[in-house]
Amino acid sequence: MSKIDRIMVLFILSCIFLFPALTHADKDKKMENSCVTCHSKLTGKSFVGVKSHDWKGSVHQKHGVTCDKCHGGNPAVANKKKAHKGVLGSSNRQSRVYYKNIPSTCGKCHGAEYYKFTQSYHFKKLEATGRGPDCVTCHGSMVTNILTPNDIANVCGRCHNKRIGLFPYVPQKAKAVLLLLRESKALFDADRKLYRPAKGSMKAFHMQNARSSLYSAKLDWHKFDLDSITGHLEDMFNSLKKLSRNKRPTSYK
Ligand code: HEC
Ligand code: HEC
Ligand code: HEC
Ligand code: HEC
Ligand code: HEC
Repeated sequence: MSKIDRIMVLFILSCIFLFPALTHADKDKKMENSCVTCHSKLTGKSFVGVKSHDWKGSVHQKHGVTCDKCHGGNPAVANKKKAHKGVLGSSNRQSRVYYKNIPSTCGKCHGAEYYKFTQSYHFKKLEATGRGPDCVTCHGSMVTNILTPNDIANVCGRCHNKRIGLFPYVPQKAKAVLLLLRESKALFDADRKLYRPAKGSMKAFHMQNARSSLYSAKLDWHKFDLDSITGHLEDMFNSLKKLSRNKRPTSYK
């Protein structure tokens, strides 16, 4: 690519990424959300301030998932007391963000992940004893983080360790599975760009199979069924292999 071409590509890319950001900003202006407006003025040092500063820049902010979507209240009024009507602190059992209610609060929009989670040991433990990871353990409450393989030792090792004796093998195995999930995602993305199969072709069929296996693997993570995740990933590899037949050098097969 020549220097000019590179600049053009960068320019087009930045238009594509900036355009949605600009239209979102416009939308925010039209429908002011009092929770966001007032909370963003609170100091980042206070407990309450930290929380709203966490939300800024999150995937949720970009998609208009404002404070009231998870906390309730009335975002159309500026008065604090009126706006807070229905907003309850996380230690109140009736609160949408009380630890036992968090999965169903998130599940209103993320039904598939929620459903898988309700099938896990952890959900049952959470319901019965309040012990066990929930959505915010791995994603943060507002920041839409995604747990990384290096987080596993801390997050899962809190309960799964030799001292407590509760399935101490879990952190090591879970880390390996999460690494594999990430690698598989990268491989899928690379192959998708490489092959671009024509609609209705056999290759498109294999690509679709690979995509749904990857999706099932991601979902099954929410059930903590590590063997079923690796099973789905194996299916994905097999579909990708079919796709690459005759296309890659034989040594790659
Ligand atoms: C005019 C300013 C203002 C508005 C509007 C406002 N808040 Fe607050 N909010 C605060 C302040 C200040 C606090 C700290 C505690 C207090 O003073 O009540 C707070 C506390 C909170 C808390 C912590 C509650 C607790 O018990 O720990 C939550 C959750 C919350 N706000 C959510 C919201 C949501 C959701 C909205 C919109 C529907 C909203 N706030 C609108 C100023 C505001
Ligand atoms: C995607 C859902 C979600 C969104 C959006 C969200 N929150 Fe939260 N928030 C939670 C959850 C879950 C908790 C409780 C768990 C925790 O403390 O990590 C929480 C805790 C809090 C707390 C601590 C209150 C307490 O009682 O512990 C405050 C304050 C707060 N949020 C304010 C906000 C503000 C302000 C916004 C918008 C700028 C916002 N939240 C957006 C889910 C959300
Ligand atoms: C009002 C609907 C709504 C609620 C409630 C909600 N989310 Fe989301 N969430 C979204 C939307 C919209 C997106 C962006 C599009 C997508 O990925 O589906 C998203 C994206 C995400 C992502 C993906 C981030 C990424 O990098 O792609 C995670 C993780 C997530 N949410 C976790 C949570 C958690 C945890 C809760 C509860 C504390 C929650 N969400 C509550 C609507 C919601
Ligand atoms: C707060 C404590 C706690 C945390 C944190 C925790 N777990 Fe668990 N986990 C449990 C409990 C309790 C059980 C056993 C449930 C039962 O009685 O069967 C369990 C069971 C499991 C099992 C089933 C093991 C088997 O062989 O049957 C797996 C897999 C698992 N957890 C994975 C994880 C992963 C992965 C993480 C980290 C993301 C994690 N856990 C974090 C408490 C926890
Ligand atoms: C043990 C940690 C853990 C828990 C608990 C957990 N998740 Fe996840 N979640 C993950 C991982 C890991 C991924 C896959 C990330 C990736 O794409 O590599 C994921 C993916 C997601 C995604 C999709 C992001 C995308 O890339 O499309 C959403 C939405 C989501 N989780 C919501 C939830 C909700 C809602 C709950 C609670 C009911 C929850 N998660 C509980 C670890 C967890």
